[in-house]
Amino acid sequence: MSTALLETRSLGRSFGKLEVLSGLDFRVEQGEVLGIIGPNGAGKSTLLAVLGGSVPPSTGSVHYGGEDVTRRPAHWRARHGIATSYQVPRPFLGMTVLENLLVGARFGAGLRGAEATASAVRALELTNLTPQADALAGSLRLLDRKRLEVARALAARPRVLLLDEVAGGLTEQELPPLIDLVRTVRDSGVTVVWIEHVVHALTAVASRLMCLTYGRLIADGAPEDVLASPEVRAIYLGIEPELGEGDAHADA
Ligand SMILES: Nc1ncnc2c1ncn2[C@@H]1O[C@H](COP(=O)(O)OP(=O)(O)OP(=O)(O)O)[C@@H](O)[C@H]1O
Ligand SMILES: [Mg+2]
Repeated sequence: MSTALLETRSLGRSFGKLEVLSGLDFRVEQGEVLGIIGPNGAGKSTLLAVLGGSVPPSTGSVHYGGEDVTRRPAHWRARHGIATSYQVPRPFLGMTVLENLLVGARFGAGLRGAEATASAVRALELTNLTPQADALAGSLRLLDRKRLEVARALAARPRVLLLDEVAGGLTEQELPPLIDLVRTVRDSGVTVVWIEHVVHALTAVASRLMCLTYGRLIADGAPEDVLASPEVRAIYLGIEPELGEGDAHADA
């Protein structure tokens, strides 16, 4: 089997007596958009933090490009291409959009001078934020703040982008531009791991889905198969009407 871009082996994480992640074995292939769904408190953000290196696992290992990076700290992983767009963004509100991206390029990827500027400008273009380059981050509407958080991660020139709930809080009308953004990122050659509660936003672009519940994987595969699985349906039925419609077709 070829080397996965990211791989976990028997990955687990506990906080005191609380086992938040347990026995996770999965691969992220180069070029895919992997969607991760699961109820509140399932351990999704903790999993991204373990992949990004800000939270060490209690058990198991993380492999990146075939190398065991379990003990590599977050800044090492950032400089080697693992970037995170956080569930709760904390941009520098008093700095402009472009200045925030320069911080991402310099401190995330360790880029300098013209290279950092080029990377920040490219992140502006990818996220359609060029018109807001000189706006203060604190003045942005929610959709643009979400774009800025993704752009900050992209400014570090990642090979793999970890996205945590970028669609949260957006209106239905605001979702298509965000989905287009993830498509653009994928088409630019970046592998994406995208956690999202808004399942139909995920399925619009994800090539694979995993469902996490109580820190364990209960499904991993083609989106339609994962969403059709009885365990996943038990969690999501009634929350996402699209799943009900899919079922009606299957029964017809
Ligand atoms: N640093 C920490 N210390 C103690 N408990 C933690 C810590 N981080 C997370 N937890 C707990 O781990 C569990 C999983 O949290 P996590 O944030 O990973 O869930 P999630 O799936 O991202 O949820 P949500 O969908 O609400 O964002 C929760 O019970 C949370 O309270
Ligand atoms: Mg979370």
